[in-house]
Amino acid sequence: MLKTFSFALVLMSLPLVVFAQAATARFDAGSKVFRLDGGNASYVFGVNARGELQQVYWGGRLGATDSFPQAMPMREWASFDSSYSNTPQEYAGWGAGLFNEPALKVTFADGNRDLVLHYESHTETANGFDVVLKDIARPVFVTLHYSIDPESGILARSATIENRGTDAVTVEQAAAAAWALPAGHYTLNYLTGRWAGEWTLNQETIHAGARVLESRRGSTGHQANPWFAIQAGEADEEHGEVWFGALGWSGSWRITVEQDQLDAARVTGGFNPFDFGYGLKAGEKLQTPVFYGGYSAHGLGGASRLLHRYELEHILPRTQATAGQAAPKVRPVIYNSWEATEFRVSEAGQMALAEKAAALGIDRFVMDDGWFGQRKDDHAGLGDWYVNQEKFPHGLKPLIDKVHALGMDFGLWVEPEMVNPNSDLYRAHPDWVLHFPGRPESEQRNQLVLNLARADVRDYVLGFLDKLLTENDIAFFKWDYNRNWAEPGWDQLPASEQKRVYVEFTRNLYGILAELRKKHPNVEIESCSGGGGRVDLGILRYTDEVWPSDNTDPFDRLSQQDGFSYAYTPQVMMAWVTDTPHWLNKRTTSLSYRMLSSMQGSLGIGANIANWTPDEAALAKRLIAAYHQVQPTIVEGDLYRLISPRNESAFSATQTVSRDKTQSVVFAFIHSTQKGHVFPTLKLKGLDPAAEYALTPIEGKAREGTPAAASGAWWMNHGLDFSEDFRGDFQAAAFRLDKK
Ligand code: GLA
Repeated sequence: MLKTFSFALVLMSLPLVVFAQAATARFDAGSKVFRLDGGNASYVFGVNARGELQQVYWGGRLGATDSFPQAMPMREWASFDSSYSNTPQEYAGWGAGLFNEPALKVTFADGNRDLVLHYESHTETANGFDVVLKDIARPVFVTLHYSIDPESGILARSATIENRGTDAVTVEQAAAAAWALPAGHYTLNYLTGRWAGEWTLNQETIHAGARVLESRRGSTGHQANPWFAIQAGEADEEHGEVWFGALGWSGSWRITVEQDQLDAARVTGGFNPFDFGYGLKAGEKLQTPVFYGGYSAHGLGGASRLLHRYELEHILPRTQATAGQAAPKVRPVIYNSWEATEFRVSEAGQMALAEKAAALGIDRFVMDDGWFGQRKDDHAGLGDWYVNQEKFPHGLKPLIDKVHALGMDFGLWVEPEMVNPNSDLYRAHPDWVLHFPGRPESEQRNQLVLNLARADVRDYVLGFLDKLLTENDIAFFKWDYNRNWAEPGWDQLPASEQKRVYVEFTRNLYGILAELRKKHPNVEIESCSGGGGRVDLGILRYTDEVWPSDNTDPFDRLSQQDGFSYAYTPQVMMAWVTDTPHWLNKRTTSLSYRMLSSMQGSLGIGANIANWTPDEAALAKRLIAAYHQVQPTIVEGDLYRLISPRNESAFSATQTVSRDKTQSVVFAFIHSTQKGHVFPTLKLKGLDPAAEYALTPIEGKAREGTPAAASGAWWMNHGLDFSEDFRGDFQAAAFRLDKK
């Protein structure tokens, strides 16, 4: 059986993308080997002599005629390390003495807990295979779904677990996929943080044992993000082999990175097995999230460029206006009122801010928290999604009309899954929150979490959001989620089914988002959770952008944005310019520095612009106009992290190059000049060496004598030097290069 995806077919489905190589998905019946090729990667697995599905190869793309013999199970190392444990299975059941992380662990109704999955059958799918495994004795079936992206070589893997028996089976642990790398010396990269401190990149040698990245919180979490990258040997930002992955799930998740007893590495990720238990009655199925995985031979930079493209082309939703396009539309430059007014919103106040925003060249005006129910502060109102009559006596219409008349569209803050005990909703439906009867309900920020897994709660949430969109001309929701779970009970269901809440809550969230987008096909949505607490490839299927952090300090943001960019495209990375000194660090920075820091992603303004001087407004207006001109390059181009701001670096710089290499944008930042050290020469990357590029400053100056135009080869080999005046504390410069 041979399946080749023709060039023409690929072009038809993704019109704006040109592929160097076609993808193939092949199964060799003789050796029982499956092979997936895409971009510069090959992924190979096969049915081994025992009947298990075994990983064979994941790395650089192999020759078209290369073939593999049947997969050979690893040998037994000693009586303590069985072949079953040592063999890198694609999806290992817990049984037969498996001591590594299992992909699937179940308990049968009779107490039996042994599960050994063998290959049963397979079918070819659009860009891959569905491979069916079955327990050696009992009718538990697992279908592994594989598909490879022809352009990036990124695989999407997931599993469907099905109970075809007559008795219930409890799934206690279910991964989306497991990835394996042969014995070697590896470095693990992962992202951690906290509220106002998300996106710290950690890099550490993988040692024997397991490193667990997870959230037990019911949602993705600020503390760790479901992404990993593993570098081989001496790989760095632009060189060497990197395997990376990201889990598409916004509920509790876990990724376990192991180095096993034979020095091989394994990564297993999916639902968090902590407090997990999904009962499958006869005939029922459990579908796991998708675990995406990719390979780059060009270091961490190559890995993130592949991931960014994949997100733009295959993950992010399209509105009606952008349906069928290769990339979603760039984000409107927004104004958001939160840091200016907090809860003190009013018709007159918001209208005054809207006028100021429009004069700066803003595209979208977003009113944040405070407009609904009895919301004066964070003690009341969540759940009551009617317009506050005191603040907006005529409803939202006058404000929205005003915003439209000023040439902007209108966005609104909502926090749909939450309720304050001091609300009409809670008084009417105290049973709607996650809770264990008779136990305290732990409040955070004076609020409780609605149990979105319940059908009545889901209907309520979908209902009020749909009503808001139907009755008002709202282009955008900032969808917030300001706490994690406590007491995750669901007492509507029999005890044996209550833990389904971990799955059904998130499914209903996705369902509501999908339904809203279907009914209102041009609405755009931001995923916010007190900043970056819900950013993952699951939510990004339904939301157009995310709020990376409540920390808007422009210096902190440089390293946060750097960390963010390993996993997520700058397109979704909203970045506001706010007031100085900054509320968090009390740091004072210039408006130019703040603007350039935010211009590395999708720009917004969140300052109290009512207080800006005419000079500040003029500077912001000029830079917003300059940003509009180069925004597609910044947010959809290829990103090169030239100098990382991490590890107390005195300098940092990024460069993005448009896909067609006709434009490039460079950002450079100084933390603190010390002992007169000049900003290093930036050897640019990714340009067309033979083309001529003109250099135009957006902010700052190049060193005297820098040519106004030079070849791509010149900018890449000789490099860009900065003016000797580019010194001091918290300084920023930006340039554009345009192909002549
Ligand atoms: C969260 C968000 C902020 C703001 C407030 C409003 O903290 O991250 O941007 O919307 O809620 O209460």
